Amino acid sequence: METDVLIIGSGIAGLTYAVNLAMADKHLKITMLTKTQEDETNTKYAQGGVAAVTNLNTDSFEKHIHDTLIAGDGLCNEAIVTSVVKEGPERIQEIIQWGTDFDKESDGDYKLGKEGGHSENRILHFKDVTGMEMERALLSKAHQYDNIQIIDYCFVIDIITQHHLGKLITKATPDIACYGVYVLNLENHQIEKIVSKVTMLATGGCGQVYRTTTNPKIATGDGVAMVYRAKGRIENMEFIQFHPTALFEPSKRFGQSFLITEAVRGDGGVLRNSKGEEFMHKYDDRLSLAPRDIVARAIDNEMKILGDEHVFLDCRQMNLENFKTHFPNIYKKCESIGIDVSQQMIPVAPAAHYSCGGIQVDAFGRTSIQRLYSCGEAASTGLHGANRLASNSLLEAMVFGKRSFEDTIAHISQYSLQSDIPDWNASGTSRTQGNDTHHAKY
Ligand code: FAD
Ligand code: SIN
Repeated sequence: METDVLIIGSGIAGLTYAVNLAMADKHLKITMLTKTQEDETNTKYAQGGVAAVTNLNTDSFEKHIHDTLIAGDGLCNEAIVTSVVKEGPERIQEIIQWGTDFDKESDGDYKLGKEGGHSENRILHFKDVTGMEMERALLSKAHQYDNIQIIDYCFVIDIITQHHLGKLITKATPDIACYGVYVLNLENHQIEKIVSKVTMLATGGCGQVYRTTTNPKIATGDGVAMVYRAKGRIENMEFIQFHPTALFEPSKRFGQSFLITEAVRGDGGVLRNSKGEEFMHKYDDRLSLAPRDIVARAIDNEMKILGDEHVFLDCRQMNLENFKTHFPNIYKKCESIGIDVSQQMIPVAPAAHYSCGGIQVDAFGRTSIQRLYSCGEAASTGLHGANRLASNSLLEAMVFGKRSFEDTIAHISQYSLQSDIPDWNASGTSRTQGNDTHHAKY
């Protein structure tokens, strides 16, 4: 197959890029691949919301920039932080125009939530299923364009470079270029090649590398691994963010844990240990709303001191009707496992949540490999430093999806489809025997 632009990943990053491209040029052939179903992404599970300065009466760009730099522990790129924060309101307006619904107050203003590390209420959200709403709106927008083709159940294995044309490529090779990908078609089990002028890796995070994670099964860091194998630059992979409050369910010690959004603490939820004692005052003046790394480490410490597998999030003092309105999904989940949040505390423990590092990109989403872009959680832009500020991820994905689109449009006419790319060489390999349910497919 041949295409002008090939996008790996159908989360907020890949879709923002795709929709912008399709809107700008209806003649561009845009092909998007996704490992399972098009909406099965980290994006779909985002709860708390998206951070942006939208109320200048109480908030300012300076405050959002400051909060991001503090959360990042001195390791953010300040110029990137400043430009992303300032671009935030524009990207929010765009995604609203594309059909995303955010909760509003009765006077029509957006309801702004608060999460750890934020000095102001600035999180736009749709109940506790913000990511699902954004993914819905973006997919629905993408489906309006005939020149975007989304192909499900296509597991990309490697990006194609000069290596596949027989040239020796090392980390010191200056002009590595990407000509497309090899992909395992999970419907017919064939490895196919797709040749493209430009490729975007929007493959998301890698939480599934860890025993306990909030991430779905698709999040295995494939894009980062592909760039690494292709001798491109990756960075800061040690900065894996653990979310402090994943629901602790004894039967679900492995795989994806259900998240209890930080916004619950923003609305008054309080952490307690197994003795029923509050403990955050021992660790940070910001208590339960300290940045995530501090809260996760504090919980881990309490669990170790007391020999426990979890701590508790106490929501009993919160107004139940408000809780049900803001967090209907969490209320339903807790109810389904016999927890009445107005009477019982919710058992929670930290879980791997977000990859702050990834594929090194510049301010336009360009990787160290020519004709290859990356945005979203797969990319390392310099925004997050050592620890991402809550709800800055969806913002970053929109900003860099947009910037990568602008750069692609400016440069794509320079590229042509590479000829003579060999088919995948499967000699010496054999197919594993096993059942072929979708569950076993990836
Ligand atoms: P994803 O949305 O993860 O999409 C990745 C895509 O890549 C998928 O389509 C997948 O199929 C595809 N893919 C991956 N590998 C391959 C491959 N080899 N071949 C083909 N396709 C592939 N952030 C916030 O800002 N606010 C929040 O409130 C928030 N809440 C969160 C709650 C949860 C439970 C989780 C898990 C994350 C949350 N985050 C939040 C983080 C945020 O959701 C993600 O960082 C963001 O959605 C990532 O978007 P993305 O487009 O980069 O990747
Ligand atoms: C949450 O809702 O607690 C997660 C927010 C985020 O990952 O930014």
